[in-house]
Amino acid sequence: MAYETIIVDIEDRVCTIKLNRPDALNALNSQLLGELATALGEADANDKVRAIILTGSQKAFAAGADIKEMSEKSFVEVFLQDFFGREHDALTKVRKPVIAAVAGYALGGGCELAMMCDFIIAADNAKFGQPEINLGVIAGIGGTQRLTRFVGKSKSMDMHLTGRFMDAEEAERSGLVSRVVPVKSLMEEAQGAAEKIAEKSMLSAMAAKEAVNRAYETTLAEGILFEKRLFHSLFSTEDQKEGMAAFQEKRTPQFRDK
Ligand code: CAA
Repeated sequence: MAYETIIVDIEDRVCTIKLNRPDALNALNSQLLGELATALGEADANDKVRAIILTGSQKAFAAGADIKEMSEKSFVEVFLQDFFGREHDALTKVRKPVIAAVAGYALGGGCELAMMCDFIIAADNAKFGQPEINLGVIAGIGGTQRLTRFVGKSKSMDMHLTGRFMDAEEAERSGLVSRVVPVKSLMEEAQGAAEKIAEKSMLSAMAAKEAVNRAYETTLAEGILFEKRLFHSLFSTEDQKEGMAAFQEKRTPQFRDK
C-alpha cells in the first residue's frame, strides 16, 4: 500500500516503519496514525517479517499528537469518536516484537507511542516528555499509566505536572529505555537488535512478549501462572527440541517456527 506519512522498508526479516512528517516534527495526525496502524497490521501478518522497528527522524521521533488538528475538537466529538482509543488498541495488538528507535523529541503522544513498543533504544539526543499540561489537557494515549509503570510515581508525576523533558541519560537511568547509543549509530543498533530477535523461534519470541506484557496487566501470582503455562507449552514445539539439541551439540539452532 502507498503511504504518505510513513515510509516502510523490509530488510533482512526486519520491517522498519519511519514516521515521515518532517515539517511537523512527525506530529501524530489521524492520517499518520491510520497509516501506522495499517502498516503494523501488515508487518504482523507478513511471514517474511520477524521483528519491527518504529522510528522517526534524527530531530524527532514524534512531537506528540497533532495540536493543530485537534485544537478545535469538542468533548462530544472526541468522546463519540473514541479519539485515540481505536488507534491505541490497533497499535498495541501487534504480536511480533516491536522496537522503538528514538532520536530527538518523543513528546506527548510520541512518548506514549514509544512506550507502546516492546522496548526503546534511544539516541543520545533523545528527549522524552509528557507536556500536555502546557496545553490544558493531560496525556491521552496511555502516558499517565505507562510512564508511571516505567519510571515510578514520583518521576512520572514530575513529568506530567511540570511538563519537563527527560534526556536520554535520565531515561536510561529511570528504566524508560533499554539502551542509549550515539545518534549516528541508532538505526544500526536497532537493526542489530531486531536481527537478533529475527534469529529466534517466533514461537518463543511471541510467548516472551505475551508473558512480559502480562506483568503489566495482572497480579504476580496470575502472571507467574501464565508464564509457567506458556513455558510448559513450548515443550510441545520442534523449536524447543532443536534449541536444546543445538546447545548440547555446540551448534547454532535452526528454528523453523514449529
Ligand atoms: N502538533 C502539531 N504541530 C507540531 C507539533 C505538534 N505536536 N509539534 C511541532 N509541530 C510543528 C510546529 O508547529 C512547527 O510547524 P510550523 O513551522 O508550521 O509552525 C514545526 O512542527 C516545527 O516545530 P517548532 O518550530 O516548534 O520546533 P522547535 O525546534 O522550536 O521546538 C518542540 C520543538 C519543543 C518539540 C516544539 O515543537 C513543541 O513544543 N511541540 C509540541 C510538543 C507537545 O506539546 N506535544 C504534546 C502534544 S498533545 C498530545 O500528544 C496529547 C496526547 O497525549 C495524545
